Amino acid sequence: MDKKSFYITTPIYYPSANAHIGHGLTTVLADAMTRYKKMKGYQTCFLTGMDEHGQKIAKAAAAAGKTPQQHVDDMAVVWRSLWEKLLIENDIFIRTTEERHTRGVVQIFKTIYDKGDIYLSRYQGWYCVSCEAYFTERQVGEEHRCPDCGKEVEVIEEESYFFKMSKYQDQLLRHIEENPGFIQPVSRRNEMLSFIKSGLEDLCISRTSFDWGIPVPVNEKHVIYVWFDALSNYVTALGYGSDDTSLLEKYWPADVHLMAKDIIRFHTVIWPIILMAADIPLPKMVFGHGWVLLDSGKMSKSLGNVVDPVILIEKYGVAAVRYFLLREIPSGQDGYYSESALVQRLNYDLANDYGNLVSRTVAMVVQYFEGIVPEGGASQPLDEELRTLAARVCEEAGDSMDKLDFANALSAIFRLISRANKYIDETTPWLLAKDAAQRERLAVVLRHLLETVRISTMLLSPAMPNIPSLVWAQTGHQPEDCLTWEQLAWGATKAGQNVRKGAVLFPRIDWERDEEENAKAASAKAGPAEAGVAKPAEIEYDAFMKTDLRVAEVLSCKPVPKADKLLQMEVDIGGERRTLVAGVALHYQPEELVGQKIVVVANLKPAKLRGITSQGMLLAADSGDRVIVLTLPPDTPSGAKVK
Ligand code: MSP
Repeated sequence: MDKKSFYITTPIYYPSANAHIGHGLTTVLADAMTRYKKMKGYQTCFLTGMDEHGQKIAKAAAAAGKTPQQHVDDMAVVWRSLWEKLLIENDIFIRTTEERHTRGVVQIFKTIYDKGDIYLSRYQGWYCVSCEAYFTERQVGEEHRCPDCGKEVEVIEEESYFFKMSKYQDQLLRHIEENPGFIQPVSRRNEMLSFIKSGLEDLCISRTSFDWGIPVPVNEKHVIYVWFDALSNYVTALGYGSDDTSLLEKYWPADVHLMAKDIIRFHTVIWPIILMAADIPLPKMVFGHGWVLLDSGKMSKSLGNVVDPVILIEKYGVAAVRYFLLREIPSGQDGYYSESALVQRLNYDLANDYGNLVSRTVAMVVQYFEGIVPEGGASQPLDEELRTLAARVCEEAGDSMDKLDFANALSAIFRLISRANKYIDETTPWLLAKDAAQRERLAVVLRHLLETVRISTMLLSPAMPNIPSLVWAQTGHQPEDCLTWEQLAWGATKAGQNVRKGAVLFPRIDWERDEEENAKAASAKAGPAEAGVAKPAEIEYDAFMKTDLRVAEVLSCKPVPKADKLLQMEVDIGGERRTLVAGVALHYQPEELVGQKIVVVANLKPAKLRGITSQGMLLAADSGDRVIVLTLPPDTPSGAKVK
């Protein structure tokens, strides 16, 4: 019987020299998703590539003193090598200058032209070369700036072919309304619905003022608009327009077109209408994730603040970089990158929690059973609890990954890892080892740990694909027993299996930041206010209303390592997840706050405390020696405004 198929795409990237961790997020997410689907038994196809035509590339090539073809050839080498370093296992790498692509684009153009949906006219208006997009007078405003990237737009006036997008407006609206999963997440769907309802104009789809593109088949003076050209890659890569359509039959329509929110409009308006006009079925889902931001804002070449993933991989290893991107950027929302936050994730999640679980387990089997996994025995309630949690976490992680929500999936997996570390403390194997009568009990405990290591390593494998082989070399599990989702079922650890110590999986990084300074910043920003300070000056009502106070639910809470006063919490502000760092650790146990409805200053500029970016501040009463967090009744809606 044929396997289920799964086709996922990233955008095809412009060949600039500045691939950064933002591009990395899309591609790592698509890669992790593909690996997860493989575990689930799907036959997968993962496409990425390069968008090599257009005015922007022609200009960049000229600036580099190269022909456009030379320029894109050189860049393709750089980008391919980045993806290799990030352990990206794409099945297809398409370049829009390849013949297999240009042939397909010409066919799409001709089909739509022959149908009468493309006509010749004149374009007069604004164009952003950086976004390769047309804008109206109203959109560019008096300053004539691109509404998307803020750069100056140019005026163009030329003969152009137009695509009758307006004709398809109602059909597109119907499709989006009848297929709630088509645009994800829901916030982007709503944005796009209102954009389309505001009215679609026909789109200019050819240019004459430069020639770096695919010639219009009916008029060689024109080249095809670069977005029309680029979007078509999703089908030309599968053989559209060629004699061999086997891949198209197998994988089209795509299961997921993945990208950041900046280009969702092209993919949910222009692309579906091209497909409708060319009588090609529409993709099942277009998913727009958020941006990777810096504290200073968006990464951009002109600001010179782009973060190069290659440097990070060299410094911290590829697993940590992939893990950070998938864990730290909440699904569908913007998230922040900082090097210290990456180091925190590496030190605390990967080294302390996961790495330690592996090394403690391995060390104990080596020490107490000479590295040979013993036979098991009767289990106790504590063991059963761990087994039940493992099964629940597999289910939860799978459900989250199905929704492309790796941040949640990883957080569930780390609940299992933390529980297993706690299980070691509760079962005290080192004491059991001293008592000959407890030999069987010790064996049961260590087998439970080995099995938890196996399951969590498998669950982490889509995110960190280079780690399992290192773990199996220590735990003695057979790699072929640890591949599929079914093999997550408890019980693959076998008596007689050889366990041996190996290198530390995630060496801790000594993050030599000025601790003093951080601590000072922490207590200044998050600590209790000084009692008895002078009465603050009066402010106007408007000044107070600038503070955006919101109800938030505390989803999880944990101490900030090496900071006595700080707790780190994840909160939900009406559907938006944020991380807060608050100076209340001397007054609250983390678990006391979980589930509470609190009040948060939601528009406070993010601040970094001990390397963690705090995206808001909670309100608390402070009497000098007591700090009481403001809480509200449990049924207060998260996100409600407080005034
Ligand atoms: N060439 C077009 C896409 C054509 S697809 C038919 C393009 N290329 S791009 O090189 O500018 O890459 C855009 C994509 O890169 C975004 O949609 C997103 O997937 C990724 N990202 C670029 N910067 C990013 C962040 N700062 N954060 C997250 N993703 C980012 O647009």
